[in-house]
Formats: sequence, C-alpha cells, structure tokens
Amino acid sequence: MPRNPRSNRRSPDLAPLLAAADPVPDIRLIYFSTASAVTSYGALVEIMDFAQPRNGERGITGILCYGSGRFLQALEGERGAVSDLYRRIAADTRHRDCQLVDVSEIDVRAFPEWTMKVVNWDSGDSARHRALLRADTGAVVFDPSTMPAAQASAFLLHLAELERELAAD
Ligand SMILES: Cc1cc2nc3c(=O)[nH]c(=O)nc-3n(C[C@H](O)[C@H](O)[C@H](O)COP(=O)(O)O)c2cc1C
Repeated sequence: MPRNPRSNRRSPDLAPLLAAADPVPDIRLIYFSTASAVTSYGALVEIMDFAQPRNGERGITGILCYGSGRFLQALEGERGAVSDLYRRIAADTRHRDCQLVDVSEIDVRAFPEWTMKVVNWDSGDSARHRALLRADTGAVVFDPSTMPAAQASAFLLHLAELERELAAD
C-alpha cells in the first residue's frame, strides 16, 4: 500500500527536530563592568531596591558582586527576559564597558532564591571571602576583568555558597 505523504505519523528521523521544538531552556548570563564613579553602599542599595522587584516580576534570579570599582553580575532566567535586561543594564550610565563573560543554557539555576543577591566586596570581604577569591582566581584583589569565564562562573557559585552559609550562621 503506497505511503500517504500527508500521514501525520511521525518518522523516527524527525525526533531531533521535534525535541528542538521543546520549550527554550533558561540561560545564565555573566558580565563584568566598570563603575562610572566610586559606588557607595547607598548606590548599591538603590540598584538592589530597584532590581529585586523588577527581576521578581520577570522571573529573573542572580547575584551582583561589586568591588574595587568593578561589577560582576550573573542573570538567570528565560532567554528573552535576560537578553532584554542585559540590554537595559548595559545602557545604564552608572557603569561602562560591559563585557560579556559567559552565556550558557542551564537546567538548574544556581541562585534560585535571590531575585538579585548583592555583595559589596569592599565592605564585606571577610577572611573567608578572601580565601575564596584566592582559591578560585589566585588573586588578592577582586578584579573580574582578569577572570576567564570558567573562573568567574565558579567564583560566583562559590560566593553564593559562602553567602548562604553566612546567612545561616
Ligand atoms: C551594575 C548594575 C546592575 C543592575 N542590575 C539590575 C537588575 O538585575 N535588574 C534590573 O531591573 N535593573 C538592574 N539595574 C538597573 C538597570 O540598569 C536599569 O536602570 C533598569 O533596568 C531600568 O531600565 P529602564 O530605564 O530601561 O526601564 C542595574 C544597574 C547597574 C548599574
């Protein structure tokens, strides 16, 4: 019997294409930038107070670390939402020279409980923070511009673990 070309039976070789039509996975985007001016505690709180509710509305989670005039931030969420937010952030005059460090599809979020965890390295760098930085990057000064992607990513993940431990103490 001739095969009906309109048959909607799925051929096995369509499987990869159909799998590709599954929902787009979340992404994690990491960038670093240089602060336009010395960023005070108040300025960081201002960013945090704005970012947390906005990110919550958009299903975005992440972490932002500021130190020595540099920002290192990870944004996690739906691809379109993260891309849109990154465009807005990159246009913000409170910092300049935003440079992408890494963009990856993720199965699991690394910062699920934080709409934006803000860490002020300049005021909060305890001995444990310094040991973490040295172990992950070999550096004594927080400078994300010198961190390769894998290093920056591991550093933020370990920083999150440390912040969770400190919050639990
Ligand atoms: C270092 C830095 C990190 C920021 N992070 C976020 C963030 O996670 N979420 C957010 O909504 N805004 C964040 N902002 C603020 C945005 O840059 C921007 O001011 C805000 O999204 C408003 O954009 P709009 O005026 O285009 O609506 C950040 C700003 C800076 C300087």
